[in-house]
Amino acid sequence: MKKIAVVGTGYVGLVTGVGLSHIGHEVTCLDIDPVKIDLLQKGCSPIYEESLEPMIQENQKQKRLSFTSKYEDIQDAEIVLIAVGTPQQPDGSANLTYIFQAADRIAKTINQEVTVVVKSTVPVGTCQRLRNYIQDRTPFSVQMVSNPEFLREGNALKDLFEGDRIVIGSDNPEAIQKVMEMYAPFDIPMMTTDLASAEMIKYASNAFLATKISFINEISSICEKVGANVEAVAKGMGMDRRIGSSFLQAGIGYGGSCFPKDTKALVQMAGNVKHQFDLLESVIHVNNKQQNKLVDQMKERFGSLVGKRITILGLAFKPGTDDLREAASLVIIDRLLREGALITAYDPVAMPIAKEHFPAVTFPANVKEALTGAELAAIVTEWEEFKELPLDLYEELMEEAILFDGRNCYSLEEVMEQNMEYYSVGRPAVGHTKSATLTHEA
Ligand code: UGA
Repeated sequence: MKKIAVVGTGYVGLVTGVGLSHIGHEVTCLDIDPVKIDLLQKGCSPIYEESLEPMIQENQKQKRLSFTSKYEDIQDAEIVLIAVGTPQQPDGSANLTYIFQAADRIAKTINQEVTVVVKSTVPVGTCQRLRNYIQDRTPFSVQMVSNPEFLREGNALKDLFEGDRIVIGSDNPEAIQKVMEMYAPFDIPMMTTDLASAEMIKYASNAFLATKISFINEISSICEKVGANVEAVAKGMGMDRRIGSSFLQAGIGYGGSCFPKDTKALVQMAGNVKHQFDLLESVIHVNNKQQNKLVDQMKERFGSLVGKRITILGLAFKPGTDDLREAASLVIIDRLLREGALITAYDPVAMPIAKEHFPAVTFPANVKEALTGAELAAIVTEWEEFKELPLDLYEELMEEAILFDGRNCYSLEEVMEQNMEYYSVGRPAVGHTKSATLTHEA
């Protein structure tokens, strides 16, 4: 078992650190934010991730997991994982300030040979620069490994324990060996390569997944116009094993802290080496268009939205998280407020954060209260709670049952049994009475 330090207790760092302690390593997680560390020392998770908190407490009890904000406490770690944020700069490139700050502190603290493992998403070439940067500041030998993470928020522990692959990039065979030993108990296929390729695997993977989403979203827009159903189309495509069925769920676009940031960073990186990444630029453009889709549909249906009582169901960028970063809800609510609509918004977990963003929005206690008296409603995040909602509630509670479903939560068959007007993504509209139809009849 190894003595491991993890620098940065955001999503990636915390989940990885807790998981590594769970398989028996002695792990110290460090963060410069004392408030976060205080919470963690008390066994509380600062992020919403299923099963994480009990796992923190269990491993703290077993004395395998500790939290600190002092670099001295990690000076004798044989492996140091860096998992600090690389936020987006205005030009789309990654801000590496935090990573170099962490590298500086690590270099000044360590008192023995160390393997530094970069988990943060960093532009290709950064790990090599980091190795030189740390090596220049310490007399001890530094080995550098790029080990990108593929965790999904809301599914992070499962992805850690049952991931498809672990990518380990380094020019140093001993460092690769050490990191392979660290991960061995997970029993996940490992792929070894050089530093630059490992860094690129992360960007290329996220860019490809974003491409799949924008692709199916473009297909969905055409489906609406030619009377096809995008769900059937995605199912038929996905049965081809070369295509695969995942990430073909049409909707109002991707959000979160990763896809929007990483796609823009890759476009920027390509530009730096004089390559115009036309395909990825279009993927980003399509996504921006898609996040505006529901409001476009509403305007097409109603013309003016001034004074309309609109209920937004779902705020988080996807279910299972309270994360609002780059969420479609932000774009939608912003625009609706500018259109003069009166907004009520409900989300099972993301409301406390949303309240800070939108002082002009009403946040009710539950979904029933949210729908009561609304003139139209829109599903923005596909929480189970919304999927399980009895459909007759829309008619019962709303002034008129008009629903814009940005995540295709209901089957057209069940909607057709209701007395409601229903618009979704890439599927024929149901029950629309006005001449301003959104789709051509099949
Ligand atoms: C994503 C990747 O899936 C992870 O592998 C990666 O580690 C992570 O980014 C990262 O780079 O840190 P995450 O952002 O947590 O993970 O969320 P996803 O579950 O991938 O969903 C991203 C967005 O795509 C969501 O807004 C979701 O609604 C949307 N999406 C996903 C679709 O619109 N359609 C789909 O078929 C799938």
